[in-house]
Amino acid sequence: MKISLSILSCNSIEEAINKVNNTNTDYLHLDVMDGMFVPNTSYNIEEIKYIISNSNKKIDAHFMVNDPIKYLNELNEYNLEYFTFHVELDNVKYLINKIKENNYKVGLSIKPNTDINVLKEYLDDIDLILVMSVEPGMGGQTFINSTVDRISEIKNLIGNRNIKIAVDGGINNNTIKLINNADIAVVGSYITNSTNYQEKIDILRSNNE
Ligand code: DX5
Ligand code: ZN
Repeated sequence: MKISLSILSCNSIEEAINKVNNTNTDYLHLDVMDGMFVPNTSYNIEEIKYIISNSNKKIDAHFMVNDPIKYLNELNEYNLEYFTFHVELDNVKYLINKIKENNYKVGLSIKPNTDINVLKEYLDDIDLILVMSVEPGMGGQTFINSTVDRISEIKNLIGNRNIKIAVDGGINNNTIKLINNADIAVVGSYITNSTNYQEKIDILRSNNE
């Protein structure tokens, strides 16, 4: 399983990037919140550009925003591995196509209480499904246990399509054992609350062999 490290709970962006750069995390998970789709805000455009420019990791960007197009336009010169937005928005098909025009891999994120069947019509157009195991909007929350069954149900929906499943929220050395059938674990506070990021990543990897 790959690790995508979220720096949302970090106070200093510069310090967080330096620490993440010195680990073997597979991705840096960049949580963008606009204060509208979710109540909190995270980074402004300049901070987002700074993070992307100074990270030596592939960027797994998670847009918890009402207007992904605004970010697409601002970041079209910047390299993202995944551009993920929420399936709860309108015009999902249009947004998927615009993201593809920027040559990004497309991710759809789904909130804990959203019916997974809303994903069906997009399965032939996306590269990743980001299954929220907490209500989006902040780090440090507790893993929602019903996510375990949802992952299996989504895997059934996907069938043999080449779509990665990522799980996001409340992942730690215990809950990671519950999501063995996912491809990517997004982890924030379990790692960033510690003084040794790599040590926590090693524990996560050892708990998921
Ligand atoms: C929550 C974010 C998550 C969060 C994960 O809205 O999408 O990526 O930062 O942080 P932890 O691992 O602390 O739940
Ligand atoms: Zn996230």
